[in-house]
Amino acid sequence: MITVLTYGTFDFLHVGHIRLLKRAKALGDHLIVGLSTDSFNLIKHKSAFIPYDQRKEILESIRYVDIVIPEESWEQKIQDVLSHNVDIFVMGDDWEGEFDFLKDYCQVVYLPRTQDISSSALKGQLRNG
Ligand code: CTP
Repeated sequence: MITVLTYGTFDFLHVGHIRLLKRAKALGDHLIVGLSTDSFNLIKHKSAFIPYDQRKEILESIRYVDIVIPEESWEQKIQDVLSHNVDIFVMGDDWEGEFDFLKDYCQVVYLPRTQDISSSALKGQLRNG
């Protein structure tokens, strides 16, 4: 069994997220999503409109997602890879190169982002009516 791990905030779930999750799952058999908690988002200078518990419930209802774990710090990734026996770590290519240190522990894949959509853009559009 091939286990895949990805991380993100997944606020205002959109098609870019779905495509990322679909392609991540297609790389293996079991997809783990490390979901940024509300307090970790503050550390990242980001704030999710939808609270963690609801973002988790939404992600858990997606067919590509097998399990959601909390992402609470930048430092937890190596431990997550080891404790979940992760084979492939996946992120969108906005993170290209940032997680290459995980190559000592598993395969690292950066997938092309879907163009012209993001949670921040959606929030901006809502704010501007
Ligand atoms: N992602 C993607 N295509 C998009 C938006 C996001 O492939 N158009 C991917 C990211 O690269 C990441 C995952 O989805 O691997 C979760 O991204 P997240 O940061 O939660 O979503 P964004 O929409 O980019 O949020 P923000 O605008 O707040 O940065």
